[in-house]
Amino acid sequence: MDLRRRFLDFAHREARGNSPCYEQRAADIADDDTVLALIGQLPTGKQQPNLILAAARVHGATAETYGEFREQLLARWPAIAATAASRRTQTNEAGRSATLLPVFARFPGPLSLIEAGASAGLCLFPDRLSYRYGDVLVDPVDGPAPVRLSCEVSGPAPIPTRPPEVVHRAGVDLNPLDMADARDREWLEALVWPGQHDRIARLRAVAAIAAADPPHLVTGDLTDRIGELVAAAPSDSTVVVFHSAVLTYLPLPARQKFVTTVRELPCHWVSQEGVGILPEFADRLPRDETTAARMVVAVDGEPVAYAGPHGQFLDWFGPA
Ligand SMILES: C[S@@+](CC[C@H](N)C(=O)[O-])C[C@H]1O[C@@H](n2cnc3c(N)ncnc32)[C@H](O)[C@@H]1O
Repeated sequence: MDLRRRFLDFAHREARGNSPCYEQRAADIADDDTVLALIGQLPTGKQQPNLILAAARVHGATAETYGEFREQLLARWPAIAATAASRRTQTNEAGRSATLLPVFARFPGPLSLIEAGASAGLCLFPDRLSYRYGDVLVDPVDGPAPVRLSCEVSGPAPIPTRPPEVVHRAGVDLNPLDMADARDREWLEALVWPGQHDRIARLRAVAAIAAADPPHLVTGDLTDRIGELVAAAPSDSTVVVFHSAVLTYLPLPARQKFVTTVRELPCHWVSQEGVGILPEFADRLPRDETTAARMVVAVDGEPVAYAGPHGQFLDWFGPA
């Protein structure tokens, strides 16, 4: 896809309805040959609109009008290009814990959670957060947490009365982020789109939890390193490997290799990925005409629910 189309697609398919600022900005860039030519000098994998716009924000290219933004972008381009070259889109959305919690809580505790593609590991703290599922509130044993995730529920989702006990948190990522590091925190914040204030508040609250009690995150490819993480989990816990919004970054054969690897390990497997990312689920998904972006939650290879991309809703179609 050419670069102009890529920015237009981002504006109309991804940003529309989520960030009016990014919708307009990406559409303006799509119309600007000078800026497109600069972005076009980056390696193809570094030309993603989300990556470029986040790198621009890190370097203060945040003006409201396109004219001023463009001046900032051109003046600061060497620094922006360097950030785009060294960083990845690693959006870490703790809100996804809301759609994972009902699944985690069904396993006998205590749990060892191991996340593949963990980014900063912010989805490894489902036991430290509070939740609102429709009218039902779920709080940690110690009382309400600093952040409450809201999730609309349909179908017979097994909403627990309490989060499960988690005794071990680990993960693997090509580039784990450290929430005790101010620059990593700044990058994760830059990846949240302008205007999404609730996401920033959530990110800051969960980043503080992760900074105070860092999960064990290792660097590497998820298929290569998942086995050692499972082997290192406490033997008196239920080991759950999970991943969320990650397999889309892998070509299909690599996704299938990861699935085969996990299924041979002594652990449960929870996946939360976009519809179509694991094609083997296709004939077990209920037909649904909605065009909303959704993920499929599956437990040990059995799809049980659709989930909002940031944990906003859980449409349960699995067994009650
Ligand atoms: C969109 S982020 C999602 C992070 C987190 N799972 C969440 O739901 O918030 C995707 C993450 O997957 C990581 N990733 C992509 N391919 C990977 C691979 N082959 N091995 C390990 N991590 C990978 C990226 O570095 C990034 O941090």
